[in-house]
Amino acid sequence: MRVITLDCAADIGRAAGEAFVQTVLRKPNAVLGLATGATPLPTYAYMADACKTGKVSFKDVSTFNLDEYCDLPKTHKNSYYSFMFENLFSKIDVDPDNVHFLNGNAPDDRAESARYAAEIEAAGGIDIQFLGIGRNGHIAFNEPSDRFTNDAFKVQLTDSTIEANSIYFDDVPMPHYAMTMGIGSIMRARKIILVATGKSKAEAVRAMVCGEIDPHCPASILKAHPDCTVYLDPDAASLL
Ligand code: F6R
Repeated sequence: MRVITLDCAADIGRAAGEAFVQTVLRKPNAVLGLATGATPLPTYAYMADACKTGKVSFKDVSTFNLDEYCDLPKTHKNSYYSFMFENLFSKIDVDPDNVHFLNGNAPDDRAESARYAAEIEAAGGIDIQFLGIGRNGHIAFNEPSDRFTNDAFKVQLTDSTIEANSIYFDDVPMPHYAMTMGIGSIMRARKIILVATGKSKAEAVRAMVCGEIDPHCPASILKAHPDCTVYLDPDAASLL
C-alpha cells in the first residue's frame, strides 16, 4: 500500500483523476470500478475536464459501480445510479450501455450477485478500482464484521453509515439495506486507488494503514493488494 498525503481535496482529485486518465490512455477499453460519495467528486470533475479538453476519451470504457441502495427506485435522486449520471456519466463520452450497477431491487440478491460477477468477468476484470472509506473503515458497503466477504451481497447498513449518509435524504427515509460488491471482487481489481479527506476519516485511515488486517476494519485488507495507492489530505492523515 502506497500512502500519499497531498495538500487538499483538489490535489487528490488531480492525482486520482490522472491515474484513471492514464489507465484509459494506455487501454482505451479499460474496465473502471467506480465509487460514489462526497470524496470522489474532485476526481470526477478532473476526469470530466480531461474528457472535455480532448485529453482522453471514455467512449470504449466499461464501468462497474461498487454499490446501490435497496428499496429505492433506480431513478430516485439519491440512487447511486442517479449520482453517477449527475456527477460523471453526463459529463464524459461514456456509452450508457457500458455502465453497470448492482440492482438494489433485484428479487433474488444471490442471483443478482452472480449476474454482476459474471458481467465483471465477461468484461475482462476491473483494471482500476476507485474507493472511498467509511468512518467505520468500510469499503463499498462492506461494514465491519467477523469475516471478509467475496462476491456481491445484500448488506444491512450500520448506524454509523446511516448517520453519515442520511443527510442526503430529505424526501424519503434512507434505506437500511444495500447491494454491495464484496471484498473479493474489490481485491481482484488490478489496481486500486482509495481517497480520504477530513478529520472524520482519520481513525479509519489509521486502522487501515497501521492496524492488523482485520475484517472489523474492512479497508485493512487493502494492505494485501499488490497495487493499492491511498491519497489523503492532512486531516485524514493526522493520526498516522
Ligand atoms: C460509495 C461507497 C462508500 C463510500 C464511503 C465514503 O460507493 O462505496 O464506501 O466510499 O462511505 O463516503 P464519502 O466519500 O461520502 O465520505
